[in-house]
Amino acid sequence: MEKTVQLYEGKAKKVYATSDENLCIVSYKDDATAFNGLKKGTIVGKGVVNNRMTNMLMQLLEKKGVPTHFVEELNDRETVVKKVKIVALEVIIRNVSAGSFAKHYGVEEGIVFDEPTIEFSYKNDDLGDPLLNEYHALALKVATREEIDTIKKYAFKINEVLKDYFLALGVRLIDFKLEFGKTADGKIVLADEISPDTCRFWDAKTGEKLDKDRFRRDMGGVEDAYKEIFKRVTQGE
Ligand code: TMP
Repeated sequence: MEKTVQLYEGKAKKVYATSDENLCIVSYKDDATAFNGLKKGTIVGKGVVNNRMTNMLMQLLEKKGVPTHFVEELNDRETVVKKVKIVALEVIIRNVSAGSFAKHYGVEEGIVFDEPTIEFSYKNDDLGDPLLNEYHALALKVATREEIDTIKKYAFKINEVLKDYFLALGVRLIDFKLEFGKTADGKIVLADEISPDTCRFWDAKTGEKLDKDRFRRDMGGVEDAYKEIFKRVTQGE
């Protein structure tokens, strides 16, 4: 499978067309941004970690009954995926208070919830990805009621699978962001990535952050955190 024209360049990935109209190739960059692109930097080796980790997790999720866009890993940074139309929603699941939840509601980070929460943002960089509820999503026609129900079902299932998976590696899955896409035949599948860019991972023993918060918050040790979480995921292979 070969790349043809570049279709899109995002903050962390490029997407290329291929000779097959139903397949694309994604290429993961080391570029890192935060705060809707206001903060920019490079995390050396991030593209490799995010590509390989996403692919391993998507294959695990497929086995557990969650359809994904994953087709085939080509090399360290590039993967063949199904061509989808991305649903303009960022779907966030939280198991423990952190980040914008702690800020919005004025609570400390680290409160364990009795049940996971779900929230949606409207995927629109110009507007700063504003929060929205299901009725807003319907009003904006970003998804149908049936699609939203499917997305919610998959998102909670993904949480159950990944929470257990990471705990076995000594990592707490605090929260994460998912994106879904629609295939040519109208099926909803998990798309985008699942990586330290899009999840909060805390070491189960020490509480150390093993994710992009180290970059967002200028904590240092960013590359080492990506290496550490990747080492654990590949050890669990
Ligand atoms: P938040 O607490 O800042 O809302 O982030 C919740 C989760 O979503 C966290 O794991 C990081 C992830 N996330 C993204 O993947 N992309 C984003 O643009 C933002 C703001 C958060």
